[in-house]
Amino acid sequence: VGGYCARVPATFRVLLPRTEPHELGLDAFLERLRLEPARTERRPRVALNMISSADGRATMDGRSGPLGNRADRELFHALRTLPDAVMVGARTMRVERYNRMVAAEEDRARRVRGGLEAEPWSCIVSASLALDPAIPLLADADARLIVLTPSEGTLPPTAASVEYVRTAREGQLDLAAAMAALRERFGIRSVLCEGGPHLAGALFAAGLVDELFLTLAPKVVAGDIASTPAGTKAMPAEPPRGAALAMVSGAHLDPPVALRLHSLLECDSYLFLRYLTAPPHGAG
Ligand SMILES: NC(=O)c1ccc[n+]([C@@H]2O[C@H](COP(=O)([O-])OP(=O)(O)OC[C@H]3O[C@@H](n4cnc5c(N)ncnc54)[C@H](OP(=O)(O)O)[C@@H]3O)[C@@H](O)[C@H]2O)c1
Repeated sequence: VGGYCARVPATFRVLLPRTEPHELGLDAFLERLRLEPARTERRPRVALNMISSADGRATMDGRSGPLGNRADRELFHALRTLPDAVMVGARTMRVERYNRMVAAEEDRARRVRGGLEAEPWSCIVSASLALDPAIPLLADADARLIVLTPSEGTLPPTAASVEYVRTAREGQLDLAAAMAALRERFGIRSVLCEGGPHLAGALFAAGLVDELFLTLAPKVVAGDIASTPAGTKAMPAEPPRGAALAMVSGAHLDPPVALRLHSLLECDSYLFLRYLTAPPHGAG
């Protein structure tokens, strides 16, 4: 996921829509970038941000970082300036060992200018609650975490303050009810979900994704795809070494979630696609 470094920002070639200027620096792009208002008052708008290799893999050697380039990293951090909350699955938190979500002063200032808190809420989805309190985000006394879980347990003691949203149905997390609780209890209107693939699959399956920011990396990775057997609700164990994850994991979606292309940018052969899901899938 990498740190933020201040230097000349990347320039994106705008392929679609054709009404936009041909080239945009990151700052000009950011000025145009908005999350749409939520489709309903009942839950926040959910934007998913993922990177995939050209052959559909979400990881290389168990990490997403090697798939990215500078422009992707800049966009990754830029997107965090937009939402009320950033959400990840527990395994991504364990692997990537997140730091505070918005570190750069100019990004924090941009959020405040936009009427947001300097730091978004950090939401972690976990059934096991097995998270190392030494993960920098959890060890940050200023961090505000919300843990979405079907469990009655708690995290080990952390320096960060932790709230719990406990929504279980038949022992499994009820994600739709959890998202509704984010809106109702915390006033969260927008969530940027950064994966991983299993959380992404659960969100798509629940009809909770409103838009998808997809970076398509010009790399072919191969490696057998670790998958969840159809009908299995429990989260699978860590994928075996050398196995890759598909960009979205979990049970087959039938019918598939339909996407509509909103915009398409290019930088150094990386494609940056922004898709909207079609209601009613995203309307729930
Ligand atoms: N390409 C990308 O854009 C991208 C993005 C993010 C991450 N990644 C990579 O993907 C890997 C991690 O992804 P992953 O798919 O294995 O894991 P993940 O989706 O990050 O997290 C899965 C974990 O989240 C919790 N969880 C997710 N959905 C849940 C649900 N519906 N109910 C209850 N708990 C739920 C469970 O936590 P517990 O285990 O605590 O119960 C589960 O084991 C890492 O290698 C990371 O580097 C890639």
